[in-house]
Amino acid sequence: MSEFPRVRMRRLRVTEAHRRLVRETHLSTADLIYPLFVVEGTGIQREIAAMPGNYHWSVDRLPYLMDEIASLGIPGVLLFGVPDAKDEVGSSAYAEDGIVQRAIRAIKRSHPDLLVITDVCLCEYTSHGHCGVVGSDGQVQNDATLALLQRTAVSHAQAGAEIIAPSDMMDGRIGAIRAALDEHGFEQVAILAYAAKYASGFYGPFREAAGSAPQFGDRRAYQMDPANRREALREIALDVAEGADMVMVKPALAYLDIIRETRDRFDLPLAAYNVSGEYSMVKAAAANGWIDGDRIAMEILLGIKRAGADLILTYHALEAARRLKEGWGL
Ligand code: PBG
Repeated sequence: MSEFPRVRMRRLRVTEAHRRLVRETHLSTADLIYPLFVVEGTGIQREIAAMPGNYHWSVDRLPYLMDEIASLGIPGVLLFGVPDAKDEVGSSAYAEDGIVQRAIRAIKRSHPDLLVITDVCLCEYTSHGHCGVVGSDGQVQNDATLALLQRTAVSHAQAGAEIIAPSDMMDGRIGAIRAALDEHGFEQVAILAYAAKYASGFYGPFREAAGSAPQFGDRRAYQMDPANRREALREIALDVAEGADMVMVKPALAYLDIIRETRDRFDLPLAAYNVSGEYSMVKAAAANGWIDGDRIAMEILLGIKRAGADLILTYHALEAARRLKEGWGL
């Protein structure tokens, strides 16, 4: 027997005031982190073709962008470096005057209150585009890579980064980086682990933006198989045991089940990375007039939040913060 007509779900949907009263999930600017790409040179703000509305920034332009980020109330940024010089071992990733290290210093000088999170990985800095050192067998060498990740993380902390985000997917890197940070007196620097990072086609536009596509092979020998759920939970448990302060699931949209299950099983703050391909698809369809891109971007962010993420790394951060300021969703 149906409870209708006594029960009518539509009673609480009548006006926006009703809907607001019973809304279960809230998106806030405080949940958003803006990822951005820093390049060599001066006076550069160059749009990334596959990611309309996102740019390559030279270090001298960053304070202007940070003014906007701070005035919108976005708590922080995630930095990626696009260096001019690359080599086999990614030396520019851990150079004291590397592109990211200079960007961190510039941001900390102009905006000490904005959180600086840095992506720690070698793929943007190696000539072969892999996330670690490649051995004579053509494989990425796990343990040899750890030492370079430690150096990179420490150099970011020395420049002033508050949160280190390793995205390389080497085994044991969280423990290795925690030990290196502590040894250098950076016990206050937090680690946001890209804990469940899948080998995904959704990174396509990023690899163009960062110039980090592998020159041979792919990343399936270190990033996760998209088919696996239980393995993600093991990855997360390992990173937690090694000392991660926060964990991340990446990408977000094809992995909302992983976000939900992580939220249900772990108590650490959970981040989701709404990656480049997820962003570009929205922009491309909107440019064709097929969808309302603004509305869909907000719906996507809300969906990631509803799945259980506490924070979202997203290229939509600036536009979403502007919309939230205008009262979107009220
Ligand atoms: C570096 C890294 C990648 C992304 C974040 N860190 C690329 C990759 O693993 O190939 C992707 C982010 C995005 O697509 O927005 N390893």
